[in-house]
Amino acid sequence: MNIALLGFGTVGRAFYELALGRGDLRVTTVLSRRARPELRCTVTDRFEDILRDRSIDTVVEVMGGLEPAYGYLCEAMRAGKHIVTANKQLMCAHYDELLTLAQECGVSLRCTAAAGGGIPWLTSLSRAARLDELTAVGGILNGTTNYMLSAMTASGTDYTTCLREAQALGYAEADPTADVEGYDARRKLVLSANLAFGVSVREEEIPCFGISSVDAADFAAWREMGRVCKLFVRAERHDGRISAFVCPTLFPTASPVAQTNGTGNLVTLRGARFGELSFSGAGAGGYPTGSSVLSDCVDIAEGCPSFYVTRHEPKPIDNSAAVSRFYLRTGDGGTCTGPITVAEAFARIERARGEQVFLARLEEE
Ligand code: HSE
Repeated sequence: MNIALLGFGTVGRAFYELALGRGDLRVTTVLSRRARPELRCTVTDRFEDILRDRSIDTVVEVMGGLEPAYGYLCEAMRAGKHIVTANKQLMCAHYDELLTLAQECGVSLRCTAAAGGGIPWLTSLSRAARLDELTAVGGILNGTTNYMLSAMTASGTDYTTCLREAQALGYAEADPTADVEGYDARRKLVLSANLAFGVSVREEEIPCFGISSVDAADFAAWREMGRVCKLFVRAERHDGRISAFVCPTLFPTASPVAQTNGTGNLVTLRGARFGELSFSGAGAGGYPTGSSVLSDCVDIAEGCPSFYVTRHEPKPIDNSAAVSRFYLRTGDGGTCTGPITVAEAFARIERARGEQVFLARLEEE
């Protein structure tokens, strides 16, 4: 397999190093605006060179962002090249088009690194969906916020210091808004729900509350309650309806989710017959994520099918029946609600906009 690598940031560099010395695949070309004399391959800043090069059968995209990545991937598929991407933003925004195009062009499209970093979550999920009816997916799917919340819980480090550290370590997205406001986790939830349920849901329909307004008083209140806060995603299927949301969630201190620290991710799927299966590992960082990219390349070299699933039926999000208790902090301090729907909890937060508010769901013990 001859690979063209688009992007040479944290993940691109790690993938390049992991691929060196392998007999089954070679990075022959890197797309880069900068000259990189240290690399043992062709370096070009012209995507047309890659498109025209018939010896390149697979394009690995780790540039991020919507354009030019979307245009490049569509052109590469039309030229008969397989695609491996780590780009969740792109996969969410153009899910239906990219799947359809891959099928029409008879090429493989893989994005395992787009959700769960080094965990083979999407591949395991799609495999499970072929064996059983999946009814729920959920977990911690953002390494940056888990790193920050873990540090704030353990040592009381302040929010800004934690964010700077996560950025310096290369965990955060180029714009950390996507991490701290929950949008990165929401994109990973979209991909997880789509594969689990054979649907296509829209990112912007999923209510999302991040961690940017958390403060020291919240951590003190949660400690009193014997709870630990995690930014959690969840999607469920009931009677053909899909509920989904992203929300800080309070877990009992001894639970496995509460014990998942640092950049660790922990994701769980529930099958109607085989029950719950959980996967954990490093959710961010060059080598873990680069390893997922590498595993997609190996799967393609071994002849995996076009995409993980063939179905992508458009489905609206309906949170009117998903019920929980919530911790709600408005100007008057934090209180816990009785059982209310997720739709109602987010509506209360919406009504309090302008105030310093925080919302966290209480996981049932
Ligand atoms: N910014 C992402 C995270 C990178 O922190 O999880 C991995 O997708």
